[in-house]
Amino acid sequence: MSAPVATASIGLETAMREVAGEVDRQFDLLLAVPDDPRAELYKAMRHAAIGGGKRLRPLLTFATADLFAVDRQCTARVATAIEAIHVYSLVHDDLPAMDDDDMRRGKPTVHKLYGESTAILAGDCLHALAFEWLADEGAHPDPFVRVELIACLAASAGPAGMAGGQMMDLEAEKASFDLATVTRLQAMKTGALIACAVEAGAILGRVQPDGRRALRGYARDIGLAFQIADDLLDAEGDEAVAGKALRKDAAAGKETFLSLLGVTRAREQAAMLVDQAIEHLRAYGPEADVLRAVARYITERDH
Ligand code: IPE
Ligand code: IPE
Ligand code: MG
Ligand code: MG
Ligand code: MG
Repeated sequence: MSAPVATASIGLETAMREVAGEVDRQFDLLLAVPDDPRAELYKAMRHAAIGGGKRLRPLLTFATADLFAVDRQCTARVATAIEAIHVYSLVHDDLPAMDDDDMRRGKPTVHKLYGESTAILAGDCLHALAFEWLADEGAHPDPFVRVELIACLAASAGPAGMAGGQMMDLEAEKASFDLATVTRLQAMKTGALIACAVEAGAILGRVQPDGRRALRGYARDIGLAFQIADDLLDAEGDEAVAGKALRKDAAAGKETFLSLLGVTRAREQAAMLVDQAIEHLRAYGPEADVLRAVARYITERDH
């Protein structure tokens, strides 16, 4: 995104394409392969990070930061750091010890191509690099803003966020969770990083926590809707379009919104969450149209 085109003025499809291109450029720059014995490690990271995925989290960071006229170079770096955490979570999620998957984003998984040890290390490195990139001046000139970004991403990735949610997700194959527990699981496993992607845009825009309430409500609702949509796609989607193996949750006997509510009620719940998310944005004008479009896209997507 060399030209600073605001996401709100270009529509969802173009915004998604531009953000995806920018994230690919950032990863390409930041993950240059060294001419030493670590080359395979970098190639594995590049395989996981470049050229795939919907880049939904970076899009959320861009769309939110655009509400507050944030410098787009800073936004690009921060959005890439958040995507690096997401990519690492996918690399580890696909490992034989976890979901044991062979395909991701229409390509072989990292451990299939590079072996398990390299896949574990590639995940470890993407995790560490995300924080290194946020700590760098390229993320924001003000160190207070950078620390807030780091704290936000750490909380969303750790035991109170994604990794904690992944642990509960493993337990969900054995335990019979109720709806409140599944909601908490999903909010941590998927919702926390999505919420961080939105929050990061507000942090970059120097919005004080009080002024972030509506955006937080929006993020919480789309995060839950997003995981319900992922579970619905797991049950009903097309593997070729999804680029990953499906029908895994029921086979693993996993408790999800779908197992608890059934397809019809899960779909209704996701639609209700999308409406609620959009309602949270009522104080914003057309500048928030991309955020509204993302909310709708989350349940309409086919992958
Ligand atoms: C898949 O995330 C894993 C979940 C958190 C449900 P995405 O559906 O965002 O995956 P990509 O980034 O588009 O591949
Ligand atoms: C993984 O959830 C969520 C992560 C935090 C990586 P899933 O296991 O349902 O994601 P997919 O379906 O493999 O993408
Ligand atoms: Mg999983
Ligand atoms: Mg999985
Ligand atoms: Mg899934």
